Amino acid sequence: MASSELSQLQNLPMERNTVSSKTASFLLDGFLFVGGGLVAFLVVWTLWSFFSPTPANFSSSLLYRSETSAGSRLSSCAGTVPGPDMRHDPPDQNFYDDPELNYTINTPPIKNWDEKRKEWLKQHPSFASGAENRIIMVTGSQATPCENPIGDYLLLKLFKNKVDYSRRHGIDVFYNNVLFEPKMFSFWAKTPTVKAVMLAHPEVEWVWWVDSDAVLTDMDFELPLDRYKAHNFVINGWPNLIYQKKSWTSINAGVFLIRNCQWSMDFMDVWASMGPQSPDYDKWGEIQRSIFKDKNFPESDDQSGLVYLLLEQKEKWGDKIYIENEYYFQGYWAEIVGGFDNITDKYMEIEKKVAGLRRRHAEKMSESYGRVWEEYLKEAGNGWGGWRRPFITHFTGCEPCTGDHNKIYSGKTCYDAMQRALTFADNQLLRNYGFVHPDLLDPSKVNPVPFDYPA
Ligand SMILES: *[C@@H]1O[C@H](CO)[C@@H](O)[C@H](O)[C@H]1NC(C)=O
Ligand SMILES: *[C@@H]1O[C@H](CO)[C@@H](O)[C@H](O)[C@H]1NC(C)=O
Repeated sequence: MASSELSQLQNLPMERNTVSSKTASFLLDGFLFVGGGLVAFLVVWTLWSFFSPTPANFSSSLLYRSETSAGSRLSSCAGTVPGPDMRHDPPDQNFYDDPELNYTINTPPIKNWDEKRKEWLKQHPSFASGAENRIIMVTGSQATPCENPIGDYLLLKLFKNKVDYSRRHGIDVFYNNVLFEPKMFSFWAKTPTVKAVMLAHPEVEWVWWVDSDAVLTDMDFELPLDRYKAHNFVINGWPNLIYQKKSWTSINAGVFLIRNCQWSMDFMDVWASMGPQSPDYDKWGEIQRSIFKDKNFPESDDQSGLVYLLLEQKEKWGDKIYIENEYYFQGYWAEIVGGFDNITDKYMEIEKKVAGLRRRHAEKMSESYGRVWEEYLKEAGNGWGGWRRPFITHFTGCEPCTGDHNKIYSGKTCYDAMQRALTFADNQLLRNYGFVHPDLLDPSKVNPVPFDYPA
């Protein structure tokens, strides 16, 4: 984008209005509270009316108006917490009371899950509102210490990155450290975990599996859930590689979104049936190798299993599976990390020109600024070849915990790249806390961010 266009954008009336109306309402709030004595009086009055069974009937209309405005704030301080009610589980029976329902993957299939979930939401109306877009992020690692001496250090930082992203976007996180089906090791551990999470979280619509070695490198980006309205499963992949090349790496099973519904229960049962707990495990290994010529190991794996279902049972599952490649739903680190410095420069160039983007704000307001950013990222591309921050940088092949990385690169290459990605993400986050890392390769150093930086 040319800089002249940018300065035009900077002067958009919309942006100035947003800022000035915010300022105006801030001043108005201040005005309501100027009289300290009045405030103290109102506090006492509100507290008193809390304990009084029949609130006093004030006749002064001026006082009454002030009280409703200030009182609504104060009452939320005093205990009526709005939002989901986590303290009352009605005694009415629901699927949790069914002794036949098991959380494990190799038990009788879950039936009528849509109805069961709906019934639970009906019993818990405070969770029903907003349920259609609610997400839980699911990730995890092995139960035992990492073999790689810096493995647990890296896992902690990788987890911190996911928690940071999720806190910014109001998403819950479940970190799993155990195999819910002991035979389903490593990459097979996803399906038993996701099934249990769906049962444990009827309040969420989407389960978002994110491998432990994936880094969220755009802290602002919001999953475009509207795009997936008609789908139940979202994965990064390339249709020509799936359907023409028949490659087992045509998709990446390390990051996916799956809707909390009956379709997904059925899908996961079929997917899991190719796993090591199944008597047909060896047979599936042979079938996968016969179809995917580029697969160079004999065991059945979850990713090949997914491509198999797309390829061989397309009519049954295909139309509910969204192959996402319009942004970095997940991207291969080796093609991403070299671009971080240029991306940082581009974003800073924009911030220098747009005062509204430089404004300090509460972390909880991040999404509102992220949406303003979108206006200035229209020319940034979608990741491939562009300068938009990649959403997820996936360290496929680096194996931070075991250290058993792909031999085409050194361990140091992997860990340095991971460090850079984590620091790149941390920099976006630390801005809200007033700090910035000056060097992507030195995660221990931070500088305070001056006011109005980087004007
Ligand atoms: C549920 O799991 C328990 C213990 O793992 C098992 O004994 C029981 O048979 C299972 N129920 C069903 C319906 O499979
Ligand atoms: C970064 O930008 C410079 C200048 O535009 C360009 O020459 C260089 O190739 C870019 N580096 C990468 C890794 O894209």
